[in-house]
Amino acid sequence: SIDDKVATLLSKMTLEEKIGQMNQYNGFWDVTGPVPENGDQAKKYEHLRKGYVGSMLNVRGVKDVRAVQKIAVEETRLGIPLIIGFDVIHGYETLSPIPIAEAASWDLKAIKKSAEVAAKEASAAGINWTFAPMVDISRDARWGRVMEGAGEDTYLGSKIAVARVKGFQSDDLSTPFSIAACAKHFAAYGFAEAGRDYNTADVGTSTLYNIIFPPFKAAKDAGVRTFMNSFNELNGVPSTGDEYLQRDVLKGQWQFDGFVVSDWGSITEMIAHGHAENGKHAAELAVKAGSDMDMESYLYVEELAGLVNDGTVNIKDINDATSRILRVKFELGLFEDPYKYLDETREKEVIGSQEIHDAALDMAKKSIVLLKNENNILPLKKEGQKIALIGALASDKTSPLGSWRIAAKDSTAVSVLEGLNKYSGNTITYAKGADVSIGKTEFAFEVKINTSDKRDFNDAIKVAKKADVVVMVLGEHGFQSGEGRSRTDLGLPGVQQQLLEAVYKVNKNIVLVLNNGRPLTVTWADKNIPAIVEAWQLGTQSGNAIAQVLYGDYNPSGKLPMTFPRHVGQVPIYYNYKNTGRPTLPGEDIVFWSHYQDEKNTPLYAFGHGLSYTTFKYDNLKIENTFSENKTVTVSVDVTNTGELKGKEVVQLYIRDLFASITRPVKELKGFELVELDPNQTKTITLSLTQEELGFFNNQGLFIVEDGDFEVFVGGSSETVLTDKFKL
Ligand code: IFM
Repeated sequence: SIDDKVATLLSKMTLEEKIGQMNQYNGFWDVTGPVPENGDQAKKYEHLRKGYVGSMLNVRGVKDVRAVQKIAVEETRLGIPLIIGFDVIHGYETLSPIPIAEAASWDLKAIKKSAEVAAKEASAAGINWTFAPMVDISRDARWGRVMEGAGEDTYLGSKIAVARVKGFQSDDLSTPFSIAACAKHFAAYGFAEAGRDYNTADVGTSTLYNIIFPPFKAAKDAGVRTFMNSFNELNGVPSTGDEYLQRDVLKGQWQFDGFVVSDWGSITEMIAHGHAENGKHAAELAVKAGSDMDMESYLYVEELAGLVNDGTVNIKDINDATSRILRVKFELGLFEDPYKYLDETREKEVIGSQEIHDAALDMAKKSIVLLKNENNILPLKKEGQKIALIGALASDKTSPLGSWRIAAKDSTAVSVLEGLNKYSGNTITYAKGADVSIGKTEFAFEVKINTSDKRDFNDAIKVAKKADVVVMVLGEHGFQSGEGRSRTDLGLPGVQQQLLEAVYKVNKNIVLVLNNGRPLTVTWADKNIPAIVEAWQLGTQSGNAIAQVLYGDYNPSGKLPMTFPRHVGQVPIYYNYKNTGRPTLPGEDIVFWSHYQDEKNTPLYAFGHGLSYTTFKYDNLKIENTFSENKTVTVSVDVTNTGELKGKEVVQLYIRDLFASITRPVKELKGFELVELDPNQTKTITLSLTQEELGFFNNQGLFIVEDGDFEVFVGGSSETVLTDKFKL
């Protein structure tokens, strides 16, 4: 068995070789070029040759991966292959939509397929481990990394976590087409105070167990092979050094038998957190807490042997960490064939192939959310319409790639301008109008976001005046969200709001296409602009997907996985809030009741909201409480397509537990189904509420189900249409 193989290999290893497996280095010198002679790179090279490196990240492409793997396999004493990690977050070189966009599809099959395709392309480039999926729940759109997750809801997030893990890993990790996945960032990274990345998280047991943990637990149950801990401290302890999180919960209660990698430099960062006295102490705390692999802190390789030899660290912890890492390498089949991912012919055939582009386009269409469509301004006509297309993002071929696109080449996305031209015979007149950002110069890795101070919108006004309909593509550049890109303002960056208002003065027939990595406060637009389409950053096929939706070749079916606030001051805002002792009903903003003096409590667009070019009617809600021992409740509803087009709808089921020992949210998503209906067709959708959906974790972290009264809500968003009650 694999356990026997691990034990046999472990028994042959020196302490330094074991620690070597726990050491991960970033890609260093030009791996196929001359060997570095001095400095850090020379040291890394030397370590690799001695067997003191277990993994590398950011080495990619068959040629480069082969170069490092060859050293590990052929030059080290035991020839243990490297595991090669990379951030395959939403594709490798061909990009699918950013993860929050994919989540908006609520289409678990499509999301799984997207991860599967990403694994196929990445593995063809020699990668066998991705640092994805990010399963952090976040309720704060100021946090730039909401683009990388599945949104605000733990139920939807858990289902998506499972789909992504299964997609990346497939049923058989040992095929050269699947890669090991990584549930990150454990834990509470998405609860950074004030949405500022890397900031402190302070959350109670109820939120930890009921909101933050479930997607991680779901990923574990789906067989995810690795976890990554998080940069933040949680309740005073940096996650990297948190024994409770990693040993008690993850490896104890949940019995996770894969390995935990630190985040980049997060072991060293425990010094800045004020938790570790120095590097040596940080290494000790991290290994004792259960961080098995050190990503780029260099502390395990430098300090662990000394710590074991002086008795501070128990060799058992080293053996445990090494065994976990070796186990995953065996499961990947790397010992049988360390070069199994390294096939130049496959690399050429698979990367950028038609199959991968087709999958990216399919996912992109499914990710679009129609937020508003007054007077059926959409879909656009394919012939005879004079269309003005406005906005810097409308012609941009890099921004749609989004954040986390290390292997994608600049300018490889299809722009909206290209898409609109391709799918119609209309005359499209383009004007930039304004850049996405002004003032501060913004650099994002190698991409510079244009920051010109242009404030006259004459070019845009000119084309808008002559048009039947104006399509404006506004929002964030792909690099204005993502890691380290928190914002305090959730409006359209730069002078885009002024541009929108200036164009509106001359032509009110506007379709606003939003590009963004997070919810935006497009409150003015919602009041004034007749049609709004949420198109996120949709990846390589972006422009084609947007054009297909705008022209009605594809009927949109996406639903928001995150609440859109009216104002940044409402953040954190989420649909499953607690009622408080003084709840304010909409429209009744009375002093001394929980409300704002200057804004409503309600969102601009609710979680789960999304329209279609057709309409759906819900009726005949039925609840069957079997009162059997396991207390399953069955909810059914009839959904009818009442419009003239075939369309898809996400039927959503929410519950409210009216009183409980730990107060429950006013609504909790507990089931959904994506259904496709022809015009006039009716389907009965049946969803079950089992103990798992009806219970919750108490403040001791124990799962309990309490009897009492429940409300049920069913409809096409969290602002649902049908409601009823039952008693448990
Ligand atoms: O995987 C990422 C992580 O999410 C943030 N820090 C760097 C890691 C490796 O690139």
